[in-house]
Amino acid sequence: MWLNEDMEKKKIFVTHVFLDKYLKELKEKYEVVVCPHKDINRKDLLKEVKGVNGIISTLTEKIDNEVMEAAGSTLKAICNYAVGFDNVDIDAATKRGICVTNTSGVLTESVAEEIIALTLSLFRRIVEGDRFVRAGKYKGWEPDLLLGTGVKDKVMGIVGLGRIGRWTARMANALGMKVIYFNRHRDEEFEEEYGVVYHTLDRLLELADVVSLSVPLTDETKHLIGERELRLMKPTALLINTARGAVVDEKALIAALKEKWIAGAGLDVFEDESSIPLELRSLPNTVLTPHTASATVEARLAMARIVTDNMNDALEGRKPSCLINTEVWE
Ligand code: GLV
Ligand code: GLV
Repeated sequence: MWLNEDMEKKKIFVTHVFLDKYLKELKEKYEVVVCPHKDINRKDLLKEVKGVNGIISTLTEKIDNEVMEAAGSTLKAICNYAVGFDNVDIDAATKRGICVTNTSGVLTESVAEEIIALTLSLFRRIVEGDRFVRAGKYKGWEPDLLLGTGVKDKVMGIVGLGRIGRWTARMANALGMKVIYFNRHRDEEFEEEYGVVYHTLDRLLELADVVSLSVPLTDETKHLIGERELRLMKPTALLINTARGAVVDEKALIAALKEKWIAGAGLDVFEDESSIPLELRSLPNTVLTPHTASATVEARLAMARIVTDNMNDALEGRKPSCLINTEVWE
């Protein structure tokens, strides 16, 4: 072959530095450009994607029609380093025949563990206790100091019975909780196997001691939990959100927490993660984490592996295992 091999290399743009080991693997095969800083701005994104065959994105970049247009007809794959893909315009990608993939399946346990961790932190007042000790306020054992709530026999209400919802159900079950769920489709086999009970969303909100959200963000689930829904919950109940901030109407949630319509909230996601309202940050009945539900070493490594595999598959003509818009393959 007289052609310079480099000239034939497919091009990939990576919007965020992620695990080097996997980038090295991609670099052996492709011409890889990695955004050198975090928080790529829109202008650079539109410039950098020009002529690429693949984009590896994270959930903080909006990959919409304009980005696909800027990339041009060479673009064949958008591999999102996340299980959620609300940041990608799937319809636009499908129209253009572009494969969109996520990292489904490998962060299931990590996220479900965070749901349980937030639940226990709130009920057992772990963060409050930690602050209390650090502030030098603890002077000796008292029988009624920081009394919390036990989880055994409490009702875990899971909204969205995907992989994460199911693993949460299994762990809640193991903690002695009763598990109820709401999902677009019932899964009677799962109900039977784990003694899980299906309810409508309203009924679940009325019955649950913990309401945990594990739905993707779509037009249908935006502000799924607003004032009406929060008012249906028990005043002793917790809301746990590890899905996407916009699934909850944050203003209504702040009111609910301030006025004690509910007892507390464990939040890993927020409506605007670049600017979380001070009002929310000041509330004592919350535990707030910085979108780290999937941030385990195990999950991040597996996510990188999957993103790399999906990109290789899409660019080499094999169906990626985490293909979302399967229509492009038919
Ligand atoms: C994280 O939020 C993800 O969607 O992977
Ligand atoms: C996670 O992988 C889910 O699909 O819920």
